[in-house]
Amino acid sequence: MNDLLRKSTDPARGRTDDKLRLRPYVFRLPSGEAGMVRAIRPRDADRLQAYVRNLSASARRNRFLGSLSELAPTELSRLTHMDRPGELALIAFARVGSEMPMVAETVQVIASNGQHCEIALSVMDAWQRKGLGTVLLWNLECQARALGASHLIGEVVRTNEAMKGLAHKAGFEIRSPFRDARLVEIIKDLSIAQAQLPCGDQYWR
Ligand SMILES: CC(C)(COP(=O)(O)OP(=O)(O)OC[C@H]1O[C@@H](n2cnc3c(N)ncnc32)[C@H](O)[C@@H]1OP(=O)(O)O)[C@@H](O)C(=O)NCCC(=O)NCCS
Repeated sequence: MNDLLRKSTDPARGRTDDKLRLRPYVFRLPSGEAGMVRAIRPRDADRLQAYVRNLSASARRNRFLGSLSELAPTELSRLTHMDRPGELALIAFARVGSEMPMVAETVQVIASNGQHCEIALSVMDAWQRKGLGTVLLWNLECQARALGASHLIGEVVRTNEAMKGLAHKAGFEIRSPFRDARLVEIIKDLSIAQAQLPCGDQYWR
């Protein structure tokens, strides 16, 4: 299902009027640790590649749905140029003393007909289970709602208990698509109002 996330030139991606944007914003985790999220830029290519290399092998496999040690040049370029209508890639940094290492990334692409918005995300292993995935998934949902998408959709490796747990907690259904037995689909109907979703003013179109 995550065809839009995979293809860079699919005519179905992105309605022409849907330029996804995000103002950089600060987050604070329940543990008190804080950080910042902003849109990715072309000059983040080395940073993103280092982040991917430093993910555990299982996190990389779960995020990119296959075995890889780093991003191929075309994929790296695609992910750092997600600025066409209907697409947005974000990176998150955590404050660690005087440093701000990159600790997470998200990507979302909305279909040209606005029917659904495809998502994927990852959190650096040492930063997992602190609530950051939850914060980022809220963001993805707020942005998709702001653009009028009907559903939020992602492909998840069937054995990825962390993402299935995160999705379940966030109100997604988990389904088994027929075309690939290794994957499940997570899907959330955005026509159903979500109480207390912390959508701030960082999103606009
Ligand atoms: C999936 C992922 C993004 C979750 O991020 P995270 O920051 O750890 O998530 P959170 O801390 O917000 O966890 C929220 C909930 O998800 C579930 N969850 C998270 N990690 C889990 C795990 N290892 N096992 C079971 N449930 C888990 C729990 O319900 C958790 O709530 P709780 O901590 O109150 O029990 C992270 O594990 C990750 O980056 N994995 C590798 C890449 C990946 O799988 N991406 C998904 C591709 S779409």
